[in-house]
Amino acid sequence: MSTTHSKVAVVVGGASGIGEATAEQLTRTGHQVVVADLTGDAVVDVTDEASVEALMAGVLDRHGRLDVVVNSAGTSTVGRIADLELAEWQRVVDVCLTGSFLVIKHAARVMEAGGSIVSVASLNARQPGAGMSPYCSAKAGLAMLTEVAALELGPRGIRVNAVSPGLVVTPLTAPAMDIPGIREDYLANTPLGRSGTPEEVAEAIGYLAAAEWLTGEVLDLNGGAHLQRYPDLLRHIEAAFG
Ligand SMILES: NC(=O)c1ccc[n+]([C@@H]2O[C@H](COP(=O)([O-])OP(=O)(O)OC[C@H]3O[C@@H](n4cnc5c(N)ncnc54)[C@H](O)[C@@H]3O)[C@@H](O)[C@H]2O)c1
Repeated sequence: MSTTHSKVAVVVGGASGIGEATAEQLTRTGHQVVVADLTGDAVVDVTDEASVEALMAGVLDRHGRLDVVVNSAGTSTVGRIADLELAEWQRVVDVCLTGSFLVIKHAARVMEAGGSIVSVASLNARQPGAGMSPYCSAKAGLAMLTEVAALELGPRGIRVNAVSPGLVVTPLTAPAMDIPGIREDYLANTPLGRSGTPEEVAEAIGYLAAAEWLTGEVLDLNGGAHLQRYPDLLRHIEAAFG
């Protein structure tokens, strides 16, 4: 067991994009950071309960404490509801919603008072996007799950928050940026007129993780895009691919 007193953080989905930037941010602010992902040092699959349970138990065993858990694992798909295979719906909901439930559940079991859990929801938790039914539904569910978990865990001194980013160019979203019209429509939906960076989201996650009187918050971070309406991505995708 480690004798150090620095805070220990686990970033699930920490090998790429927003999670990777968050691992760097938490390291900069003095945390010992465990990066957990489908590949890498701490392997976890958020859709597998035994894997999530083993991750949290392993961190506690190795570091002696667990202060911060960030859940940035995510995936998406595109398809109209009438055409969408059940398996594709299930794949996205399993990672984005059920996976978040498992991460919160097993973090809560090992955390003590002062612990803090931050999930990455999305602008799509509040803005519907045509062709994105499983992702939007899962992220809306994650926003509510955050609030319920904050209610349940508050009396134990554990805080639960989420950040809801708008467009951030990462390996998840980069392929869509090559489809004509999509980036332009996103930016037209955004009063500040630009996408965000993984580092900007990481900074907000760092704040949510640290702010000791903040719980049950789902923080919109999107250049004001939540004030307008989500772009019609399907129109551009169907124009590009038929
Ligand atoms: N990029 C954006 O514009 C944007 C906007 C809003 C919300 N988000 C959310 O932010 C989070 C991070 O996304 P990103 O853009 O950094 O994408 P990313 O693809 O760069 O990172 C996602 C990470 O999650 C991991 N992951 C996927 N399935 C997993 C599983 N079953 N178990 C463990 N890890 C798994 C991937 O391996 C990857 O490293 C996601 O939840 C995403 O939905 C992203």
